[in-house]
Order: sequence, then C-alpha cells, then structure tokens
Amino acid sequence: MSKFDFDSLRKELEEKGAAIKSLDEAQHIRNEFAGRKAMTAASGSISSIKEPAERKEYGKAFGAYKAFAVQFTDELLQQFERRAKQQSLDLTLPGSRFHSGSLHPLTQVQNEVIDVFRGMGFSVETGPEVESVFYNFDALNTPEWHPARDLSDTFYVDMKGEDRLNWVLRTETSPVQIRVMQTKKPPIRIIAPGRVYRSDKPDATHTPIFSQVEGLYVDEGVSFADLKGTVLAFYRAMFGSDIKTRFRPHFFPFTEPSAEVDMSCIFCGAKGCRVCKHSGWLEMGGSGMVDPKVLDVVGIDSEKYTGWAFGLGIERIAMLKFGVNDLRLFYENDVRFLSQF
Ligand code: DAH
Repeated sequence: MSKFDFDSLRKELEEKGAAIKSLDEAQHIRNEFAGRKAMTAASGSISSIKEPAERKEYGKAFGAYKAFAVQFTDELLQQFERRAKQQSLDLTLPGSRFHSGSLHPLTQVQNEVIDVFRGMGFSVETGPEVESVFYNFDALNTPEWHPARDLSDTFYVDMKGEDRLNWVLRTETSPVQIRVMQTKKPPIRIIAPGRVYRSDKPDATHTPIFSQVEGLYVDEGVSFADLKGTVLAFYRAMFGSDIKTRFRPHFFPFTEPSAEVDMSCIFCGAKGCRVCKHSGWLEMGGSGMVDPKVLDVVGIDSEKYTGWAFGLGIERIAMLKFGVNDLRLFYENDVRFLSQF
C-alpha cells in the first residue's frame, strides 16, 4: 500500500495524547495529527495509486483516520480548555450582581394615592386617553371659545374620514367624571388617576404628558366642607400630620365655586423658602363644587344632589416626596435616574 500506515499513526496519536499535560501540548498535537498540513500529507498519495480497488481502500482508511484524529484531538483540547477555565476561577471574588427591576416612581406614587383614597371609601375608575371633544370639553361646560380648546394647547387627533376634529388626547382626567356619572347613580365616590396631555414646551415644570388624579363625590347634602376635609386628610396621609391646606378662589368651567388647592410647604413648614418661592405654599391642583349644568348633562337631579370634584397633580407629589426638581426626569427613562427608586 501507500507510504502511510494509518494504524500506527493512530496508535502514536493515542500514546502522545495520553501523555500530554497542558493546553499548549493539546494544541500542538492537534496541529501535528489533525491539522491541514498533516491531512494533506496523509491524503497526498491517493492520486498515485493506480489500482481502483486499492485506491478505494486507501481512501476509506484515510477517511476513518481523519474522523478519529479530529474527534480525538477535539476532545483533548476541550478537556484542557475546561481545566484551564477551572483553574482561573477565583471563588473568593464577589458574585455577579442581580439587577432587579422596580416600579416607576410615578407608578409608586400613584399606587400610594390610590391606597389612601381607597381607605377613605373611594373606588378607582379609568377612562380613555384618546377622548372625544364631547367628554373632554362640551360635557364639562367648556365652551367653544375657551382657550383650553385651542390647537396650541390641546393635541387633537385627526381621525380619518371625519371632517371635524372630534378627538383629543385628554387634557385632564375630568372627562372620567362625566363617564362615571352617565353610568352610576349617586352616591358616587370615585377617583380616576391617569395620564393627560397638553401641548406644552418641556422645561423643568412642564412636560407634554403628565398625570393627575381626579376625585368626584356626588350625593345628597355634599358640601365644600367635605371637600376640604377630604383633601386635607389626603395630603396628611401622604406628607404627615403637620400639613395644612389652603383653598384659593379660582375659575374652572365645570365647578362653581372653584378653588385652587395649596399645601403648606413641606420643606420650610410654611415659613417660606426657595421651593415655595417664599410664599409658604405649594400649588397642588384644582377643585370645586360640581356645576349644576354638568349634573344636568348627565341627568343627575341638581335640585336633589350636590357634588364636589378635584384634579390633583401626581408629578407634583412625586417631586416633593423624592426631592426631584425637574419634571422631565420622570419621562426620559434614564436608568441612572429610575434605578434610584
Ligand atoms: N381639570 C382641572 C385641570 O386640569 C383640574 C380640576 C379643577 C379638576 C377642578 C376638577 C375640579 O375636578 O373640580 O386643571
């Protein structure tokens, strides 16, 4: 036969393989017995064999040797690679850190708000963020000429096939009041937390998306005093029993009378500081007695029932609770910020 004796080659490989002690040697043996050069040398003489049967036999023997050499040296390599890896393991090093996720700070605050109001007997309602002009403005007694309806303040949604702009990204959570009053009979005692949208240029105190919690209480004999007591109890539950609230006369189309809600500054105890602009008070939201016109729209007898409502800012609470001074941080999804909560 040829110049290659595959049987003794195989034996030699086995013997050498059994004697090696390092990854280096394993790599060396791999090259020597199964490398490209070794294989070319071993198969080289095939073409010089003239006799077809002999040639076939040689080819077969070469194929078998090749498969063996590759597998044998592969296993050797793997074995020494594994050993090398184990030797480089330092079991005294600290383990790799497990990063667990957490709820977004706004979600955490919203959950806390919900807990407090649930404790006072309010149930939680939701409404769509793409809202009709009827629910967002008309039913809330907000006339066509009202500046809040301007294209520059409100994101209108252009629905295909409609010639009028009938849809908006809701500018407040107040439309949920209407949806609830249309379907439930008094007594009604609900809150509606959620996202709202306004076409504001982002800065430290404005973002085009933010969150509010709406509150609504309708029953016989509901008074402004109930509103004041409820809002005070809420802020005390959130910020501590020293908190005071103040209601300043204001105007909202859907309440009469209306008031803005201020809370005593938690940083200076209402003495005046940079955060409260030396006034001692922080603006927290709007409120008022539900305008009888709004009750009429939803078919609740405004002679028999009265109600109050409020809309409070969630980010405002979160910023005070966590000491965050830029509203945009809540919406930029920077993990360095979010992982602190
Ligand atoms: N919707 C008002 C706003 O976004 C806040 C508000 C004021 C809500 C008075 C109310 C309310 O329910 O009674 O500015």
